[in-house]
Amino acid sequence: MARRKYVVGNWKMNGLASALDEARAIFEGAAAHPSVDVALCPPFTLIGAMHAAAPDAAVGGQDCHSADAGAFTGSVAASMLADAGATLVIVGHSERRDGCGETNAEVKAKAEAALAAGLSVILCVGEPREVREAGGAIDHVLAQVRESLPDQFDRTRLAIAYEPIWAIGTGLVPTVEDVAAMHGSIRAALTERIGAGANELRLLYGGSVNGDNAAELLGAGDVDGALVGGASLTAAKFLPIVAAAATLAG
Ligand code: PGA
Repeated sequence: MARRKYVVGNWKMNGLASALDEARAIFEGAAAHPSVDVALCPPFTLIGAMHAAAPDAAVGGQDCHSADAGAFTGSVAASMLADAGATLVIVGHSERRDGCGETNAEVKAKAEAALAAGLSVILCVGEPREVREAGGAIDHVLAQVRESLPDQFDRTRLAIAYEPIWAIGTGLVPTVEDVAAMHGSIRAALTERIGAGANELRLLYGGSVNGDNAAELLGAGDVDGALVGGASLTAAKFLPIVAAAATLAG
C-alpha cells in the first residue's frame, strides 16, 4: 500500500488570533492537493480557534504531558488537545528534548499517552552537529527511535520525523543521499521491530524545508513528507511545499 504524502507545519511559539486567516488560507490552498495530508500544529492557545475556523482540517499540538490529568502547572494532557479539536501531536521535538531536557523515556511516555487519547503522533528524532561530524548520526538516531518508540502502536497513527538539529532554522540541509540513508536505516530498524508493517509508517524529513528544496528532499528514498517550521507560517511559503509533495504523490 502506497504511503500518502504528509506535510505538517509546526508553528512553534508563533501565532496570535490574527494568524487564523493565514491558517484558513493554508487549508484552502491545500485542498487543491487532495493526494497530500496536510496538518498545522499551532501553539496550544490557537488549537480550538483553528479547529473552529477549519473544522475539517487536521490541527495538532506541539507537545503533551504523559499524564492524563494532575498537578502539572503549565502542562497540557493529550486528552485536552483532543478535547480542543486536535487530531495529532508532535512529541520529542529537539527544542523540547534539548531545551527542556526531555529524555527518550519521557518522549515514549508522551507518545503512548497521545495514542491512548486517540491522537496521531509525530515522533521527532535527530542528531546534533558534532555527532554528524563524528560519523555517529545513524547510530544516534536509531537509538532515539528504539528508546522513544511506544511498545505498541497503530502503524497508521504514528509517523517519525527525522530532523537533524543543525538543520533546524539554519538554512542548512543534509544531502539527499544522507537523508535517504537515514530514512532507510530508520525503516530497517522499524522492520526489525515490527516486521513488514513498518512499510506503512510515514517517515518525514524536517529542517529548513522550503519551497525551493522540497521537491528534492521529499523525493529522497523513504521520505514520505516534511515537518516544516519557519516556512509553515504563511500560505505563500507553505503551499509550494504541499504542491511539491503532490507532484511526487503522482
Ligand atoms: P524549520 O523547523 O523548518 O524552521 O527548520 C523545522 C522544525 O523544527 O520542525
